[in-house]
Amino acid sequence: MKGLTATTNRIAIIPRPVRVEEKSGHFTITESSCIYASEGALAEAKFLAEVIRPSSGLEIAVKTLSQECDCKGHISLALIRTTDDDDDPMDDEAYTLDVSECNVKIKAATAKGLFYGIQSLLQLLPPNIFRKAMVKDATWTIPCVGIEDTPRFKWRGMHLDSGRHFMPKEFVLKLIDLMAFHKLNSFHWHLTEDQGWRIEIKAYPKLTEISAWRDETLIGHHRNNPRVFDGRRHGGFYSQDDIREVVAYAARRHITVVPEIEMPGHTVAVLAAYPELGCTNGPYQVRTMWHFSEDVFCAGNEATFTFLQNVLTEVMELFPSKYIHIGGDECPKARWKECSKCQKRIQNENLKDEHELQSYFIKRIESFLNENGRSLIGWDEILEGGLAPNATVMSWRGTEGGIQAANEGHSVVFAPASHTYLDHCQTDDVFAEPLAIGGNLPLEKVYSYEPMPEELLTAGKGHHVLGAQGQLWSEYFPNPKHVEYMAFPRLTALSEVVWSPREGKSFENFLGRLDSHLKRLDVLDVNYRRLDHKL
Ligand code: ACM
Ligand code: ZN
Repeated sequence: MKGLTATTNRIAIIPRPVRVEEKSGHFTITESSCIYASEGALAEAKFLAEVIRPSSGLEIAVKTLSQECDCKGHISLALIRTTDDDDDPMDDEAYTLDVSECNVKIKAATAKGLFYGIQSLLQLLPPNIFRKAMVKDATWTIPCVGIEDTPRFKWRGMHLDSGRHFMPKEFVLKLIDLMAFHKLNSFHWHLTEDQGWRIEIKAYPKLTEISAWRDETLIGHHRNNPRVFDGRRHGGFYSQDDIREVVAYAARRHITVVPEIEMPGHTVAVLAAYPELGCTNGPYQVRTMWHFSEDVFCAGNEATFTFLQNVLTEVMELFPSKYIHIGGDECPKARWKECSKCQKRIQNENLKDEHELQSYFIKRIESFLNENGRSLIGWDEILEGGLAPNATVMSWRGTEGGIQAANEGHSVVFAPASHTYLDHCQTDDVFAEPLAIGGNLPLEKVYSYEPMPEELLTAGKGHHVLGAQGQLWSEYFPNPKHVEYMAFPRLTALSEVVWSPREGKSFENFLGRLDSHLKRLDVLDVNYRRLDHKL
């Protein structure tokens, strides 16, 4: 699929498709329109009908059809069967969308491709298509167009920190909808932190009785002196039924949920409930202010590994994801230096220092995950002391870690703070913005991000770059509306970074389409930051 996309306000799809051919005329959905689904496409057809029905009030019937539909007035979803000797098989996430005055046809090799075709189709309809009740006196027209589309990267992600502030399940589901709307497919769910543990583990009930709650929370910025606290208990957790609901909801939208269980650092909330897993045996307290703790899991204590393997066993039962994220970032070594058990482990395992002890820790966890058919992914600190043999690296401290890992033959997801930390401010005028952790990451800088560091990768290593993702750390996100303010429209720009071709990339063109897109986000009740750009 080659060729530049000429997009106008009439066809304002985000992320920008690979190829768009505008045509004159339009198709109108009416009370007699049906959705015809070929074998295997029924679930996607029902999904489309369920979006269209409430707002249009049209009883769109879904019917199965064994061959391609050419009949007038209808929408058809067809799975194209490719064979092994097909010279140019369709990518599993690719689709074509053809809108003529006569009918609408979406074709793909998989249900996932059809789903992305549906997302593009919905963006061709008036924004009111997303309303949950019937819109009066509306006409549901779609401009005629031919689209061929396929994503640039396999990992198109968004991360959410439910640890620093607990995020209600309903909001997580809303974010998953917004991810699907932007053709993102990897939801990295940060579930454990020094400030709160958020996932029910049946074997360890104190994780939800104790670790999920903190006594109070810091008011204002972490740098403030003196520090002031709000005196209010904060917390919450997702039951295993909640988790299954989220995972199923995401799967229906072709999104994989990658859980993150932090280790060896960012774990003081666990130690508050199970102090025997720390080097000093405590007492510990679920952290009430930001920044990480010196207190981490004891790497010399076998009980730590028993605990983590039991936790991960339940995690793997809940999350079918190939990848399990084990954190690995920001683990201070002070306690290990003083701990007789950790020092004994260093000696017995012939390790050079505490960095190698961290590497020992991560390698042991990787073996456990691999034995269970899963793959380990961790922040780039897992490179220190030697990378586990099959690990995938998530590069956040710039891109060097990711580049090194890819050059060593490991898979990489780029998440550099410089371009993808959506908790950073959106302008340098920090006093005009709500309190944030700092930094300045305006929309244009997110849009400018290029995840493929070709000039630094050894030839032939590019395929190790799985993609990139946006980070939503929640220290300074007290509620869901605030998360939306920080995420949008920057996540919209990032969706284009990971989906759209490099060829034809233009911030001006993006802004032109964003105008229409923001009207959709209005209907979807997204509290995005208003643009201060003037074209
Ligand atoms: C991180 O921001 N500590 C991954
Ligand atoms: Zn120790």
